Amino acid sequence: MKKKGAFICIEGLDASGKTTQARRLVRELKRRSFKAVYTTEPSPGEIGEFIRTYVLQRKKRVPIAVEALLFAVDRVDHLERKVKPALQKGKIVVSDRYVYSSLAYQGAAGLDLNWIEEINRSLVTPDLAIYIDVPPEVVLNRIKRKRSVMERLLIQRKVMKIYMKFVEDGQLMRVNGNRSKDEVAKDILATVLSFLKN
Ligand SMILES: Nc1ncnc2c1ncn2[C@@H]1O[C@H](COP(=O)(O)OP(=O)(O)OP(=O)(O)O)[C@@H](O)[C@H]1O
Ligand SMILES: [Mg+2]
Repeated sequence: MKKKGAFICIEGLDASGKTTQARRLVRELKRRSFKAVYTTEPSPGEIGEFIRTYVLQRKKRVPIAVEALLFAVDRVDHLERKVKPALQKGKIVVSDRYVYSSLAYQGAAGLDLNWIEEINRSLVTPDLAIYIDVPPEVVLNRIKRKRSVMERLLIQRKVMKIYMKFVEDGQLMRVNGNRSKDEVAKDILATVLSFLKN
């Protein structure tokens, strides 16, 4: 029997364990003879690279609408060039961040959620979207960066609030990420395997 492709995205706050868990999930799926690929946003392509240097590494923030538009352009590019071709080959694509990151982060920065949804309207809806739920205070302990702790805490709280809105309306499936990596991984794998069976 040919295994059908599926598009899974992993969301969460900074340092919530997305990369750790997305990579592990791909490894575990491959071990079970699924064809699985890891990918990430911003994408590994030229537009993603531009975002990394122009948006993420700058000290001064680019206008937030510009940021949202760039992410949307990268997302379309990434979908067309990497995600869709893989899905057509029957692969399971695990994306480390997707459109919910734009809604949560640019939304938390003050952009209208409806407008962010609007510029992302043409996108593929993920088959399964997982939110790794870790309290802002806990992720801040995992991050050692310059910005003041208070400022970061306020941002992460705003981001979490938007993510939780999507958990509540059923678009994101919540996994408790405030546990050991092994426990979180076990939970995510069980969720994904049960989804793939149905
Ligand atoms: N369940 C966990 N418990 C404790 N530490 C963890 C857990 N999961 C990940 N970490 C650690 O937290 C840090 C961030 O993890 P990771 O890079 O996977 O997060 P991320 O969500 O991808 O972060 P970013 O948003 O920066 O890409 C790493 O040092 C990782 O080892
Ligand atoms: Mg990461």
